[in-house]
Amino acid sequence: MLTLGFETSCDETACAVVRDGRYVLSNAIATQTDLHEGYGGVVPEIAGRAHVERVIPILQKALDDAGVVAREIDAVAVGHRPGLIGSLLVGVCAAKAAALALGVPLIGTDHVQAHLLAGTLDIDHDPPLPALGLVVSGGHTALYLMPSPIEAQRLGATRDDAIGEAYDKAAAILGLPYPGGPRLDALAQHPDADPWAVQFPVSRLEEGSLDFSFSGLKTAVLYAVRGVPTRPGRSPSAPPPPPAPPPLTEARVRDLAASFQRVACHAIMLKMGRALDALADKGIHCRSILAGGGVTANSRLRKELSALAGERGLELRLPKMEYCLDNAAMIAALGARRLMAGHTDDLTLRAHPSSDIPAYAEP
Ligand code: KG4
Ligand code: ZN
Repeated sequence: MLTLGFETSCDETACAVVRDGRYVLSNAIATQTDLHEGYGGVVPEIAGRAHVERVIPILQKALDDAGVVAREIDAVAVGHRPGLIGSLLVGVCAAKAAALALGVPLIGTDHVQAHLLAGTLDIDHDPPLPALGLVVSGGHTALYLMPSPIEAQRLGATRDDAIGEAYDKAAAILGLPYPGGPRLDALAQHPDADPWAVQFPVSRLEEGSLDFSFSGLKTAVLYAVRGVPTRPGRSPSAPPPPPAPPPLTEARVRDLAASFQRVACHAIMLKMGRALDALADKGIHCRSILAGGGVTANSRLRKELSALAGERGLELRLPKMEYCLDNAAMIAALGARRLMAGHTDDLTLRAHPSSDIPAYAEP
């Protein structure tokens, strides 16, 4: 079964052909980084317009790379939520047109849930279940219980910034160009970078909480670079203000990057450990980890996830590098699996800005 997938939720226009919900025959992506970098972030109107211009050439590239013609396609899947509404609409319209023209089923898929399947691509068997799902991206940071590869129940999520957003903002504070996440990661890996140079706070939240918070860490980076602001009119008896931060030399930037990276990854690992323990207390013993999203490309997070999986005896499914960031192969894979499980949509399918993955509820 050949599934064509469309992904246009943010700033990548992507189209892919996937066989049997697993094997990626093509994974075409047109990135818009060049269009947004001058603004330091994604500009929704520019993103939507660029998707309109690029979606048909990318569709053609996906078919050509896969060596198939359009009439061989058996189903069309599209990421229809969550994302920028003007961007999602382009993929949804293109997918509807393709499904209608080819006379094949249309399946809407949740982009966040699709990230959770990225670690199953190009592998002929599923990981043992249930799995603990982790999505770490520019827009999402959340943990899921996954009874099956196409079912996810949210255990916890960020209360403020997503981890990728925190990476990008910390990188901007350090003067690195957009998108900063991968650049900060590269600096943190420098052999002279000291991950213990700065003691940034690790957000634990309430005891037992499986939520995340990254805004405090981001502010701590800001203060480490620009100094802690002091209130005008301080009382003379107040403790002296903290000393001005050291100058932002190359070595200092590397140390700040490595210290940020250590704490950001530690926050993820802490909540994963808590989630595994909390589920085990309920008699739910996870047997694997399914991780996805742009930040799974991060060197330190990949190592720490491998270590956690090793310690706990879990099978770890980390996406190949090309499936970490937004792509349409994961969309096609989820669409195909949903179709095989009996789900389809029709031409009334709509784009939605938010995800609809349910929260975990006690059975
Ligand atoms: O999954 P994705 O492509 O888009 C969303 O769905 O949000 O993730 C993009 C995010 C960006 O914030 C980017 O800076 C981050 O993933 N990212 C990284 C790395 N590579 C990409 N963050 C840290 N280390 C990396 N190596
Ligand atoms: Zn994404």
